[in-house]
Parts: sequence; C-alpha cells; structure tokens
Amino acid sequence: MENANINLRADIPLLEELIYLDAASTTPTPEPVLRAMQDYYRHFNANIGRGAYKTAVKATNKFENAREKIAKFINSKQNEVIFTKNTTEAINLVSNSLEFKKGDSIIVPNIEHHSNFIPWLNLKDKGINLKIIKTNKYGVINPADIEKAVDKTTKLITTTHISNSIGSCQPIYEMGNVAEENDVLYMVDAAQSAGHMKFDAKKTKADFIAFPGHKGLLGPVGTGFLYCKNEVLEQLKPMNLGGGTVSNVTENDFTLEPAPARFEGGTQNIAGIIGLGAAVNYVEDIGIEKIEKHSVKLTKYMYDQICGIDNTICYGDRENVHGIVAFNIENMNSHDVAKILDEIKNICVRSGYHCAIPAIKHIGADALGGTVRASIHYYNTKEEIQILAETVEEISKFAGG
Ligand SMILES: Cc1ncc(COP(=O)(O)O)c(C=O)c1O
Repeated sequence: MENANINLRADIPLLEELIYLDAASTTPTPEPVLRAMQDYYRHFNANIGRGAYKTAVKATNKFENAREKIAKFINSKQNEVIFTKNTTEAINLVSNSLEFKKGDSIIVPNIEHHSNFIPWLNLKDKGINLKIIKTNKYGVINPADIEKAVDKTTKLITTTHISNSIGSCQPIYEMGNVAEENDVLYMVDAAQSAGHMKFDAKKTKADFIAFPGHKGLLGPVGTGFLYCKNEVLEQLKPMNLGGGTVSNVTENDFTLEPAPARFEGGTQNIAGIIGLGAAVNYVEDIGIEKIEKHSVKLTKYMYDQICGIDNTICYGDRENVHGIVAFNIENMNSHDVAKILDEIKNICVRSGYHCAIPAIKHIGADALGGTVRASIHYYNTKEEIQILAETVEEISKFAGG
C-alpha cells in the first residue's frame, strides 16, 4: 500500500470499523476536509458576497478560492463553475434552464441514472422527444448509433461517463466529436468519474458537465457543481432568482449578474464548498493518476475474484468497468446478499436498482431485485476485496443449498 493511502485511511477513521465499498453512493469525508469546514464555522462564519467587514470578506475569498481550485482541477474557467447541492441539481439546472422548442429532441443512452433521465423525460409535456439509444449487453454505447440518431431536431446529446449501475465507461470523447460535428449541445454526467480519473472538461467538448462533490472528489454531502462552457452560458435562463443573482432591480425589471452569480441565488452551502475546495486539494495531494491506477487495478482484481465464484453473475465487461463491479448470486435477491455481507462482515455495498431501473432491466437483473454493487476508491485495499470475495463465496454456497 502507498504512503498516501495509509494517510488516507488514517484520515478516515470510519474505515477501520467497516469495509466500505459504496463509493458510488457517497464517500466518507477525510479529516482535512472536516477541519476546513470547522475552521469556517469556528473562525469566519459569515455570509458571502454581502458584508464589507473582514470576516465576511474572508468567507467570500475562501469560497471563491474553492471555485478557483475546482476550475483548475477540471481545466475550466472560474465563471464556468456553478455550485449546486449535488449532481442531480446540476442536471436539472440545465434541463429547466435551457430553452427548448416543441419538436426538439434529446439523445440519451438507455443505461442512465434516473438523475440524467427523468429531467429530460419530464420535458415530454413541452413536446420535446427523447431518443433512447440502446447500449450493448455490457451497457456500453456505440458512438456510431448516436451519430445515426442525430437529425435536424436534435438539440442535445446527454450521457453518463461511467454507469453507476454497471460500471461501464462510455466513449465520451467520441460522443463529444459527434456532437461537435453535428453542432448540437452535449452534456456529460461525471458523477462516477470525477475524482476517480483524470478529467479535462475541455477535452470532452461538452457544453455541460454535472459533478458531485460528495463522491469521488471526497468532499462533503450537499455539494456538487455544473460546468457550463462560456460560449453557452447565455443559453441558460437562471431559475433560482433572488439575492445574489442581480446587479440592479427596479419595480419593473432586473439586471442579472454575470455567471456564475446569476445561477447561485440565496445563501450557499458555504462550509460545504470550502470543504470541497479542501477535498480537491486532498485528491491532488494523493495524485489523480495514482488514484486512477489504483482503481483500474483493484476493479479488475475485484471483477476476477467475484466472477471466479461459482453461481455468481457479473455484469459489465471486465476491460471496461471502472471502480464498480455489479454482480448477483444466482437465485438470491440482491438485497439479501447485501444484508448478509453487512451482518456477517460489516461490508457496505449497495443493492437493488441503483436509481437506474431501465439499466437494470437492460442487463436482465430485475428478476433478482437488481444487483449487488461494490464500488471502490483509493482507500480500499486488496485485502478488503479478498474478504468480500470470500464472504460472497460463503453466501453462494448457502444459496446453492
Ligand atoms: C451516474 C449518476 N448520475 C447522477 C447521480 C446523482 O448524484 P447526486 O446524488 O450527487 O445527485 C448519481 C448518483 O449516484 C450517479 O451515479
């Protein structure tokens, strides 16, 4: 195990009490992130962008420093980072704020998390059509199918980067080329890749990218952000208007602040965002390349260990899943497996539909109530995966009767 990993485990005492394999839901928060938040509450707990007194100015500067760090980390400009409370809110910000006209269509793969599906499905009432593109049996989209689906009604292509239910990594760069060549908007849901692998917003060619703060980036819950490319910022109509979003108001009209302020109405999650800034520092201190390398190796190890057990079914292609292994034990409900893992070895995995019912149906796992999903981060070890595999094997023998 690397030194930084040892520090990371020391920085998350919770990891000594259990085997945490649910990074795809949220990650435990390291001490330096907690300290950054406590520092705010203890020493400069004031609102931002408002007061002229020193404490308020300090809070504002720390908050904007977090934006600066995040922008650098994803290779964007600072005004292209809009804070939200999670990935879902970032996606809804786009679906609610973008102007669509009746007859426009949106292209979306059939394995999306509900958060990158329902916000678009919800536009059906306005006459916006969804074109749902079937992925292969491993839940991977073929960019050629996206290309074929594009026509003059296409307004937006949206896709997840890594499927939360299957772990499959989508060809987001090729899809970005399709969007660019056809001059349509492009959105990426980076909920499962941010903080797990090197990610350059500009290289994706995406107009919009939704990020969680509380998953791979190791930030606190209640944080997320939307990257919105400068060139398309004006196409978004702010929905959450009020304090902090305007530069002038008359009885008849108002003038919006430039982005990102126009999108960040009301008091923000100041401590959370300052914590997220500290979390990005922390991830950078470990090194994103190191995290990615560890994840690639450990995911394959986990896939092999689980798939090697009789009576188990693994979903996704070994060579293409990242950070996530979704599996089942034959004839056992996924929740039962997860419950037993927790009861006998304190192993935390998620089970069920993972907020992705169409994806689970696509891989044919609905008969077992969904899948068991083990998801990792840099703090997870080979030893933990061995314990997971041994325990799954024990349960599978019991299931076999
Ligand atoms: C691919 C994907 N998109 C969106 C979301 C929603 O994320 P959040 O809980 O940050 O809104 C998740 C959460 O697991 C996800 O995995």
